[in-house]
Amino acid sequence: MVDFRPILQDIVAMAQQESNKGEVADYIPQLAHVDANKFGISILNHEGNIHSEGDAKERFSIQSISKVLLLSMAFGLVGDKLWERVDVEPSGDPFNHLSLLEMENGIPRNPLINAGAIVVCDVLISHLKNPKQEFLDYVRAIAGDQSISFDLEVAQSEQETGFRNHAAANLIKSFGNLSHKVSEVLDFYFHSCSISMSCEQLVKVFYIFMNRGNCLQNKNYLSLSQVKRINALMLTCGFYDEAGEFAFEVGLPGKSGVGGGIVALLPNQFCVATWSPGLNEKGNSKLGMQALEQLTTATGLSIF
Ligand code: DON
Repeated sequence: MVDFRPILQDIVAMAQQESNKGEVADYIPQLAHVDANKFGISILNHEGNIHSEGDAKERFSIQSISKVLLLSMAFGLVGDKLWERVDVEPSGDPFNHLSLLEMENGIPRNPLINAGAIVVCDVLISHLKNPKQEFLDYVRAIAGDQSISFDLEVAQSEQETGFRNHAAANLIKSFGNLSHKVSEVLDFYFHSCSISMSCEQLVKVFYIFMNRGNCLQNKNYLSLSQVKRINALMLTCGFYDEAGEFAFEVGLPGKSGVGGGIVALLPNQFCVATWSPGLNEKGNSKLGMQALEQLTTATGLSIF
């Protein structure tokens, strides 16, 4: 059994020494206020033991990490019919690009870019009476934590400034790949991105993807095949046009968000989350990526 504690302590020391911590996202004004010096890391192993260092209990905006949870809920509800509305190929493009959407007739490349998650939100609206509340309840139930919530100021901030998401949703609608009103779909999408969680809460939620679809309370949410597909999507599409670099450096399926969070996992072994708000030029947490590279190199644990 690996003793993660000294490795996590080395990682925190590395983060504290690093002078270039990247740039905090400011295109959503509410995110610009976050302190770039924050750094947290948590590891949850298969047996349910958690090790944390740094600011691992502090909540942050999970942003695009919620796309995996939207996907999980929709895939669990509608199964393989989901792939009639969204593809499963890496985009090689930034998370908010529109050009492929135009060329590919409103079918987003994958569910982990903005356009894909917007279509997944539309699918969920068709199957839920109160999509925002039922999605939040789903995340809370998986985590076994009723305190997880939306950050309404972040949701409102993005509603006012998310011009590219408004453009993407309208483009998808023009191709007939949204059944509901653009405003209704975007309201749900912006709320899902605004969920705030700590590293410790994130690893508990993502435990289901590490543990064959079963949560820490041993309730099943996904079939083995569905977990395989979601992890494959995280590996190939979880970091936008840096998915190759993340696989190359870290070697784990994972997902990032512009709030500076990253969550990654090794099936049947552990789930890890980092939070460092400064981003690199591709929109992924700069120190989070370095930390996870350090972790898998020091332990020799990766899917490869
Ligand atoms: O839609 C957006 O632009 C944000 N709510 C989420 C973007 C994001 O987190 C991309 N991640 N790296």
